[in-house]
Amino acid sequence: MAYVVTENCIRCKYMDCVAVCPVDCFHEGDTMLVINPEVCIDCGVCTPECPVGAIRPDVDDGMRGWALFNAKYASVWRPISAKGVPPDDASAWDGAPEKLKAAFGASDPALA
Ligand code: SF4
Ligand code: F3S
Repeated sequence: MAYVVTENCIRCKYMDCVAVCPVDCFHEGDTMLVINPEVCIDCGVCTPECPVGAIRPDVDDGMRGWALFNAKYASVWRPISAKGVPPDDASAWDGAPEKLKAAFGASDPALA
């Protein structure tokens, strides 16, 4: 088991999760983060730290695609171990519809 970052991280990218992770398993894309499932130790401390509730256990219903998405992008995006500056308009994107499609152009193959 691992935890996964899901759609509501896109364009919110608060990075409070990074500050508490004991094993630095987050990776950073332009609009969101993902978790490396090979490094995550399932401690769960990041979940309540996310202001927009974007981090879930990969065993929850509907998380199979997000588990594939996190594994895929953790292998290509850069590691991040310190909280950066969130986007100025982060709060405006909380709960916005179809953020995945807007950020990635179409549904990512990992979610098909
Ligand atoms: Fe890091 Fe723990 Fe969150 Fe996994 S569950 S990403 S180890 S803080
Ligand atoms: Fe994203 Fe939440 Fe972390 S918005 S960067 S998963 S604190």
